[in-house]
Amino acid sequence: MHILHIVGARPNFMKAAPVLRRLGAYPIVRQTLVHTGQHYDASMSDVFFRQLEMPEADLNLGVGSGTHSQQTAAVMTAFEPVVIERKPDLVLVYGDVNSTLAAALVCAKLAVPVGHVEAGLRSHDRSMPEEINRVLTDRLSDLLFTPSEDGDQNLFREGISQSRIHLVGNVMIDTLVRLLPKADAKLPGGVNGRFALVTLHRPSNVDDLSWLRDLLGALTDLSDQLSVIFPVHPRTRQRLNDLGIDHSANARLHLLEPLPYLEFIGLQRHAAMVITDSGGIQEETTFLGVPCLTVRENTERPITISLGTNQLVGRDLKTLRGSAEAILQQKRSQQDERKPVPFWDGHAAERIARIIVRGSTH
Ligand code: UD1
Repeated sequence: MHILHIVGARPNFMKAAPVLRRLGAYPIVRQTLVHTGQHYDASMSDVFFRQLEMPEADLNLGVGSGTHSQQTAAVMTAFEPVVIERKPDLVLVYGDVNSTLAAALVCAKLAVPVGHVEAGLRSHDRSMPEEINRVLTDRLSDLLFTPSEDGDQNLFREGISQSRIHLVGNVMIDTLVRLLPKADAKLPGGVNGRFALVTLHRPSNVDDLSWLRDLLGALTDLSDQLSVIFPVHPRTRQRLNDLGIDHSANARLHLLEPLPYLEFIGLQRHAAMVITDSGGIQEETTFLGVPCLTVRENTERPITISLGTNQLVGRDLKTLRGSAEAILQQKRSQQDERKPVPFWDGHAAERIARIIVRGSTH
């Protein structure tokens, strides 16, 4: 049985790594790993492959950046001949990035079965490019692997047959569980004691320069109370350059280059709070029990609010400031009375591998 995995952007790598490992344990499975090249900087890609102990990609399509249509079309054009030549029995796509949808569409047109890992998530906000990618990828997929029950409900509501839906849990948490013992919290110079960890890269936050300037102002104010560590995504770096905000910021607001996985989860575990617009980080903070403020109006991961530590602060600086203040006043024990999220247990990829291999007739 030949399984082809396609990855392209940073959040794909920690999802694919455990699935590659688990499927690798079955002798009947042969695997091919294709990187689209959507993320190409060493700090966004190579270092993750190394730390996640992933095999080198068999092929890199080298698509790089562009508009959404350019990027999606470039992946499709480069990926189609690969599928025709390599004839996989199943293609696994991950998450919600442009590479995910492009690959699913190629396979659907060639009648090659697709499995979507992290299916069923919905923000119900079509202004997010990722939401379009999620809805369409699920439509095109034959096997839908959901991380939580709300994903199943969303898919039922969209009329997707129950026989295609498999609640397996969260593969990103598999990687977190496996690598947390190796996590390495290297604090930047000048940081001691409590700190807040920040990531921002969504177009809705960083492409609106006046909002980004206001957000930076709120983070600078917060840095009067505790150090703020902000590893900056390349897209955000470009916008900060446009605003004329330089690398050094101020003594307690630390603008860093993107961090490798182990360093980032090490910091996350010890942070007093995380402020983010990332999807995966909402999940990781929930697992780690670290308070998370999400700078978005909605989330496709509602379980991180109902069972976890996440709170939406929207596009409202007053709420952001108030919620950060409340977290600083809170005692740790108040934050720790949570039930674990079902199936976020480090075994999601095992379930995926079992379903794929058991369903195989090869
Ligand atoms: C993509 C995903 C997003 C995911 C994020 C994680 C889509 C629609 N978005 O957003 O869901 O949360 O990755 O990082 O697929 N750039 C570099 N070096 C790189 C990669 C990007 O400099 O290695 C710069 C390029 O100028 C590019 C910009 O960052 O134009 C944005 O990159 P892109 O891949 O288009 O989207 P992300 O914002 O990274």
